[in-house]
Amino acid sequence: MTAPLDLRLLPDTAVVHDSDIAVGGVSLRELAERFGTPLFVYDETTLRSRAREAAAGFDPGVAFASKSFFCGAMAALAVEEGLCVDVSTAGELDVALRAGVRGESIIMHGNNKSASELRQALDVGVRRIIVDSFDEIGRLVHLVSAERPARCMVRVTPGVEAHTHEFVRTGHEDTKFGFSLASGDAQRALNELREIPHISVEGVHCHIGSQIFALDSYREAVRLLAEFLRSNSVSELCIGGGLGVAYVAEEKAPTIGEWASAVRDALAEHGVSELQLTAEPGRSIVARAGLTIYEVGTRKVAAHRTYLAVDGGMSDNPRPVLYGSGYEAVALRAPRAERTTAYRLVGKHCESGDFLIDEAWLPGDVHPGDLIATPVTGAYGYSMASNYNRVPRPAVVFVRDGAARLVLRRETLDDLSRLEV
Ligand code: LLP
Repeated sequence: MTAPLDLRLLPDTAVVHDSDIAVGGVSLRELAERFGTPLFVYDETTLRSRAREAAAGFDPGVAFASKSFFCGAMAALAVEEGLCVDVSTAGELDVALRAGVRGESIIMHGNNKSASELRQALDVGVRRIIVDSFDEIGRLVHLVSAERPARCMVRVTPGVEAHTHEFVRTGHEDTKFGFSLASGDAQRALNELREIPHISVEGVHCHIGSQIFALDSYREAVRLLAEFLRSNSVSELCIGGGLGVAYVAEEKAPTIGEWASAVRDALAEHGVSELQLTAEPGRSIVARAGLTIYEVGTRKVAAHRTYLAVDGGMSDNPRPVLYGSGYEAVALRAPRAERTTAYRLVGKHCESGDFLIDEAWLPGDVHPGDLIATPVTGAYGYSMASNYNRVPRPAVVFVRDGAARLVLRRETLDDLSRLEV
């Protein structure tokens, strides 16, 4: 048996009642009724305050990592809160541009940018292109001109084994991202870029991985980079994203402010505090702001456990399957109740691996028709959602001050067949 849900896993404005939870002043049960389930709900207050914390912790030019969750409304919110937007494909760039984000607020990423992606980025005058390979430099040479100059950063791989899941580690030597510091490629890339007319190198970028709790991993990256930054008179360091968030009650993550201070302190300790320090957080801004509401459709008592099947699954949250990520669940009918029974919370997809929570503690009487919320699903859920088994993607609503606005409508079966020719 476990205690009721730890309220620290809910968005900032959450208020727990006897038989409902309100977020942004709006009842989650009413939202489910109005918009259907599964439903992603984001608390704008939490989004905005995390975005502000990021803007305040670092120097100007902090970017929101759009891969964590993106749509026009999120792009607009990030910019309103003083952030740039980091995009890594033509698709993310397109969302940003359609939302009215100006080139000056866009950072272009990607480990395999095509010539057309680079051309478009230059055409719209992106603030920075984060250069990731020698092939990319080769492509850029042919694209830049006096009318279309490129402002770049070199992505450097410092050789840090960040303390996180191996699939989301990027700062170590054996990675597809960036230029290795140890091999000398980072130096060669910087030298090459500095020689090319119409390209200006405005700094160094370093992203060591994602869902990192140990600030020491960042301190170590700074230690390894310090000499490179100093000897090349680098004027700006972007430390990437990657700050971890707590998904379950036992976890504890540093705040964005603590993360920024740790990096600044490390820069000072290694004698490179003069440069501008920026970052590009994703998860730490959106994860806890969002939650998902599902409806239980089936309760099955099987030999080894009781299964609760909901109307979504690995298509709206593939993280448990991909990374073994843990989540918690709460029954909206009784959010304060002791959670006496461990269920396996599964989806509606045709595989045994389709689970959302391996051991979801909930009250013993959960039955079909009950609404279940899984908190902290704001990052890498919707953005990695698929149409597996031709399941339409859920709708997304933003809530604030007692009002809900639909920012992404639910996919329809017509949407799913729009590619048929
Ligand atoms: N900057 C770069 C260059 C990145 O590759 C990423 C994430 C970020 C910033 C933002 O990192 P964040 O602050 O969100 O940790 N799908 C995985 C996470 C993949 C992260 C990819 N890159 C997951 O669900 O855990």
